[in-house]
Amino acid sequence: MNKDKISIVILAAGQGSRMKSTKAKVLHSISGKPMLYHIIKSSVEISDDVTVVIAHQKESVKEQMNSYFSNITFVVQDAKNFPGTGGAMRDVRVKNEKVLVLNGDMPLITADSLKGFLDSDADIIMSIFNLVNPDGYGRVIIENTQVQKIVEQKDASADELKVTTVNAGVYAFSKSVIEKYIPLLNNDNAQKEYYLTDVIAMAKEDRLRISPLLVEEEYFKGINSKLDLAVAEEIMQNRIKSELMKSGVIMQLPQTTYIEDGVIFEGECIVENGCRITGKTLIVNSHIKAGTVIEDSIVKNSDVGPLAHLRPASFIEDTHIGNFVEVKKSSLKGVKAGHLSYIGDAQIDEGTNIGAGVITCNYDGINKHKTIIGKNVFVGSDSQLIAPITIEDDVMVAAGTTVRSGKIESGHLAVSSAKLRTIKDFYYKFFGKK
Ligand code: UD1
Ligand code: CA
Repeated sequence: MNKDKISIVILAAGQGSRMKSTKAKVLHSISGKPMLYHIIKSSVEISDDVTVVIAHQKESVKEQMNSYFSNITFVVQDAKNFPGTGGAMRDVRVKNEKVLVLNGDMPLITADSLKGFLDSDADIIMSIFNLVNPDGYGRVIIENTQVQKIVEQKDASADELKVTTVNAGVYAFSKSVIEKYIPLLNNDNAQKEYYLTDVIAMAKEDRLRISPLLVEEEYFKGINSKLDLAVAEEIMQNRIKSELMKSGVIMQLPQTTYIEDGVIFEGECIVENGCRITGKTLIVNSHIKAGTVIEDSIVKNSDVGPLAHLRPASFIEDTHIGNFVEVKKSSLKGVKAGHLSYIGDAQIDEGTNIGAGVITCNYDGINKHKTIIGKNVFVGSDSQLIAPITIEDDVMVAAGTTVRSGKIESGHLAVSSAKLRTIKDFYYKFFGKK
């Protein structure tokens, strides 16, 4: 693909008031990444000149996008004097002869879905789709098979509102069209905004060639509300999980599981129903059982769950993690932790067994401390390991022990439970005999 054929401009300066949120619309996330991330990712696949127009919360939009991409240009819209999608284009300068303009609230766009805009020589190619419910979109007025204009919903007459052919919000312009018509836009409309969509009527007047391109909502849906966000999330999730299954992951009831963009699976993996796997997680040759949550962790040759929680920076290898076990910022290699444990800030080595109900007490109220457990250690059920603590290889910790000492040496037994007392007939004295 020839990336210097086309420039791409992404309009991301709007506030997005219909989202009812203090966060800029384009920063709301879909499958773990901001909406704008998804659209830039598709754009840089086909263009070497990508400009993002920003204004509302411009610093955080810029900062977040710079953390993902190194070669995009930012232009700040003078949104006070020139509000609207046309105003957003005023200070944009592009390199290439063809310019694709995308709304920043279309996270479902893929590089493939944009190909249709690249191979026509019309002056303007504009995206349209037909919707049963066109609510919110600009209506495309077509007469004698020719596009005449786009009317925004708020400016539309009762008849125009009935039109179900709508502007999807992607346009390919030749550079000269942008240079000529953007400065001519006015804000004589219901929203007192400069509409990019008004370019169509002006170009039509001048007899330029405007060619409509029918696109699919699955790729070109605009996100205006949190309801739209949820609909787009489902589409994105289906894509992510379909790709994973195609590449060999077994998923049981995949529609019940959430997997973020960027999670990597290798080898033979099974993900049972109802799991949530997020962030920079890598899973290799492992079985993730029902209801498990994994965040920013690495899991290799292991089985985890059901109902386990791996919090960020957990490294699990050749290990069995059973139900109701929470692990955080810990490395477990060749370990069995089968039931009801909290393992935080720990390093646990091969052959070690963590009994039911074992807790690493890693936090003293001010600082977090490390627990280091060597090879072939047997930690009995219901023990508390008060960090900082080192348990050397071949140690036995008796059930119900509170280990306070800084170090338990190899070969030792640690036991803290008091001697058992039994009091004869206490039960009957207390409750009486029935
Ligand atoms: C826009 C189109 C509408 C189309 C719809 C498709 C216009 C006037 N209307 O409407 O015809 O059916 O998209 O989804 O273009 N933005 C800026 N600066 C601004 C205002 C908006 O950069 O001053 C950006 C927003 O961040 C957003 C994009 O432009 O990413 C579209 O803005 P939005 O307000 O969502 O436009 P719609 O009303 O959906
Ligand atoms: Ca929109």
